[in-house]
Amino acid sequence: MGLLDGKVAVITGAGRGIGSAAAKLFAAQGASVVVGDLDKGPAEEVAKAIKAAGGKAVSVAGNVMELSTNENLIKAALENFKGLDILVPSAGFCNDKVIQKMELEDFRLMERVHMEAPWLLAKLAYPHFKELSQDGKYRRVIFIASEAGSHGNAGQSNYGAAKSGVIGLMRVLCKEWLRLKVNCNCIAYGFVETRLTQATAGDKILGANIGIPEQMRSMAEQFVMMRGGRILTPEEAAGAIFSLAIPQADGINGQLVEVDAGIGL
Ligand SMILES: NC(=O)c1ccc[n+]([C@@H]2O[C@H](COP(=O)([O-])OP(=O)(O)OC[C@H]3O[C@@H](n4cnc5c(N)ncnc54)[C@H](O)[C@@H]3O)[C@@H](O)[C@H]2O)c1
Repeated sequence: MGLLDGKVAVITGAGRGIGSAAAKLFAAQGASVVVGDLDKGPAEEVAKAIKAAGGKAVSVAGNVMELSTNENLIKAALENFKGLDILVPSAGFCNDKVIQKMELEDFRLMERVHMEAPWLLAKLAYPHFKELSQDGKYRRVIFIASEAGSHGNAGQSNYGAAKSGVIGLMRVLCKEWLRLKVNCNCIAYGFVETRLTQATAGDKILGANIGIPEQMRSMAEQFVMMRGGRILTPEEAAGAIFSLAIPQADGINGQLVEVDAGIGL
């Protein structure tokens, strides 16, 4: 018996990091998972690992900034698993620069991946949530924000604004979807050890440099250590998503949960 038995989840950015850990945890707890990622190989690997462990998963490769990818994700859930219960739009990356060095395109890129894509996935899920709501069960959208959005972080005016936007989106949908019993909550992480927070190593996503500048990473690490805190693992980060997804959390709605081991970035 798992706490998510019978649930169908769509998790984007699930080929790596927090999304990958959430996909594996959800599946281990009985959920059928659509593993979405821009990169086909990592998405397939996660789905394969889930199935090897006795779970249920399919992978969908594609860019969440495209309408068709979001359509494919929803379709994969409905066709393979005959349901749609939990959305976790986790896909994303950073493209840090101070504002005087940032171009409008850098800003728009972060708005598209971190704010527009979750909006699109939720919008496409709406007719299915409406139809499925006849069964009287609670469903979920668990948005992924950042303390760069809830508190601000130098060098991230694009990312921080987008993550702040997703908090607003969560609060609106919480109210619009009360009658459908689709609970909308949002997690703002502090510092989690993933590719996203590794110092820039020349990697690019869709032409943009990813990771955070070495100096910023080192400052963030010092801040965490000074406060006696620590950097979270992806598995710990996924635990927070899981805690909002389980039926025992049906009473939690419209909340922003900061997950940072108490350091308050
Ligand atoms: N790591 C942290 O400290 C931290 C802090 C706050 C918020 N977050 C948020 O957590 C989420 C997950 O990040 P992570 O730390 O696990 O990073 P990660 O780099 O380990 O994983 C992100 C995944 O998203 C995928 N992805 C990126 N752009 C995509 C796109 N356009 N379409 C589809 N897939 C795409 C990547 O291929 C990657 O596999 C992100 O939304 C991030 O902003 C992370």
